[in-house]
Amino acid sequence: MTKRGEKMRQTHIVGNWKMNQNLKDIDSFIEQLKTIEAPSVNAWIAPQFVHIPYLLEKKEQLPWLQIGAQNCSHATQGAFTGDVSASALKELGTHFTIIGHSERRSIFQESNELQNAKVKEALKNKLIAIFCVGETLEDREADKTFSVITEQLLSGLKDLSPEEKRDIIIAYEPVWAIGTGKTATPQQAEEVHLFIRNLLKDELGFSSEETIILYGGSVKPTNIQELLACPNIDGGLVGGASLKAEDFIKLCTTI
Ligand code: PGA
Repeated sequence: MTKRGEKMRQTHIVGNWKMNQNLKDIDSFIEQLKTIEAPSVNAWIAPQFVHIPYLLEKKEQLPWLQIGAQNCSHATQGAFTGDVSASALKELGTHFTIIGHSERRSIFQESNELQNAKVKEALKNKLIAIFCVGETLEDREADKTFSVITEQLLSGLKDLSPEEKRDIIIAYEPVWAIGTGKTATPQQAEEVHLFIRNLLKDELGFSSEETIILYGGSVKPTNIQELLACPNIDGGLVGGASLKAEDFIKLCTTI
């Protein structure tokens, strides 16, 4: 749990496994993690829902690893076939949930209002909410990056108490960089991270110096260092490169 340079915020590397990995893959991943010392960063993994209990059991041998979900329901309980409640996740021992990933927004048509309800459910149940924002290539080319991100943050994070705001992590994930191998340059990412930090303070009443803001979009062992060198980038939300234990270990031990 290091503090880097003058940063007061801890570095987080969060693996978003998406709809990947089977039990055999998980066994081999865990065996490889067992060969290393506890890393100096916060190392978190979000597997598919059904694999959460399996990973929580395995994690007993890896006390430094935290397990989370990739999504949760906007509702508390009831007739929501196929949904998973934040309370059920918490009951299992889940530490966090990702909310508002661009794949949820685009493939499943989830709105900013729905994200806001999900954030509130997660926080009510004491899960840390990793709230994702990011512009499409079309938005960026039309010079709409900051307005799109403003709208996502203002609607997705509205009406939260000061205590709840402390359990929010932001992930800036430009949609054009996700799964494409095309990472935002550290300058492009830092510009948006700084914008987000200021907006959290000025418009949403966050104690924004303390808020962790992750970058996501083709993060890999070869670019993590230059991203983490930026003053407002506090870690990575990592898809593809978190699937291989070797790369995940490199990401977590590189600083
Ligand atoms: P990627 O995915 O690292 O494969 O680009 C990141 C994400 O979607 O969270």
